[in-house]
Amino acid sequence: MGSMLFTLHWFDSIRSGERRAYPYRMETHDDGAQLTENEPDEPETGEPHALPVAELHLHIEGTLEPELIFALAERNGIELPYADLDELRSRYEFTDLQSFLDLYYANMAVLQTEQDFADMTRAYLARAALAGVRHAEIMLDPQAHLSRGISLATCVNGVASVLAGSREEFGISTLLIAAFLRDLTEDSALEVLEQLLAMDAPIAGIGLDSAEVGNPPAKFERLFARAKDAGLHRIAHAGEEGPPSYIIDALDILEVERIDHGIRCMEDPELVERLVDELVPLTVCPLSNVRLRAVDTLAEHPLPAMLAAGLNVCVNSDDPAYFGGYVDDNFAQLKSVIGLSEFDCVRMAANSIRSSFASEERKAELLAELAASGH
Ligand code: ADE
Ligand code: ZN
Repeated sequence: MGSMLFTLHWFDSIRSGERRAYPYRMETHDDGAQLTENEPDEPETGEPHALPVAELHLHIEGTLEPELIFALAERNGIELPYADLDELRSRYEFTDLQSFLDLYYANMAVLQTEQDFADMTRAYLARAALAGVRHAEIMLDPQAHLSRGISLATCVNGVASVLAGSREEFGISTLLIAAFLRDLTEDSALEVLEQLLAMDAPIAGIGLDSAEVGNPPAKFERLFARAKDAGLHRIAHAGEEGPPSYIIDALDILEVERIDHGIRCMEDPELVERLVDELVPLTVCPLSNVRLRAVDTLAEHPLPAMLAAGLNVCVNSDDPAYFGGYVDDNFAQLKSVIGLSEFDCVRMAANSIRSSFASEERKAELLAELAASGH
């Protein structure tokens, strides 16, 4: 069998179908597959350079582009339940969080080997570098792989092997966060956390994701206490679909340092006041919220009101391969659709850097880069 070439593309906008060349191509041979760099596109004259930001809310499995899903399925001899890319893309019409999660977990079937996890991570970082990302805190869902018979070592080492060289290879400093699935039991999460600690996995913190409603923060009190004890950072999704009380409980019971999403805080003025007073970072994901119908349209997104209230918000991409855009696309649409000002973009870029778990030295370096960026 000869070698096969898959030229990867991503959709900047799934709706418009607009494509941009992918910086990598995957070649599969009988003895494996390899990602190699494509010739860079001619830079478009006059195109502004991306705002330097920290991406703090990113699920690495949510960066699996349709082309990569097909390439990995081919490499691993996995039959996908979609005839072609168009059929897969036709499934990207979500009605709520769960309708997305069903596809997100199903597509993970193509991730089998350390190399698969490494290729996915490398592809994200290549795209993120173009988006202006200079620091990324990346969530991985270990339980979603363990339940498919993929070992912790396979998924953690595959991602971590690329993150270890991300600064040199892509100019992006990175941290890995193990996210736990809130629709599973706390005992399952505790067991996996102990295994991660025992194998000395290079994780900076833990997160809490998956189906929010009906799985309140209090369910994971012991997990977060154990993580604190182990010196790990702590974040949790709250107030995406769940009520404002989940944000309060994530802060008070789980002692999280950041809230992922948090948009529903706007329903509780007292909570908003507290979040402003305590400078609690909220990692907002505008395109995600529209695609998962947490808000009806981008024009109705609460981000401008959150900024006006003085909340510590920043812009993130969540699951960019599924939601029609990376962090630069989120900024671009916020500017074009709701008229977000350059001043507010820079303010949120600074918020993202300050709210990160990077060293003080790295934060100072990134803030200096932002100040010198001409934005
Ligand atoms: N897992 C991946 N993306 C998620 C999201 N937006 N909310 C909850 N869990 C997720
Ligand atoms: Zn998320």
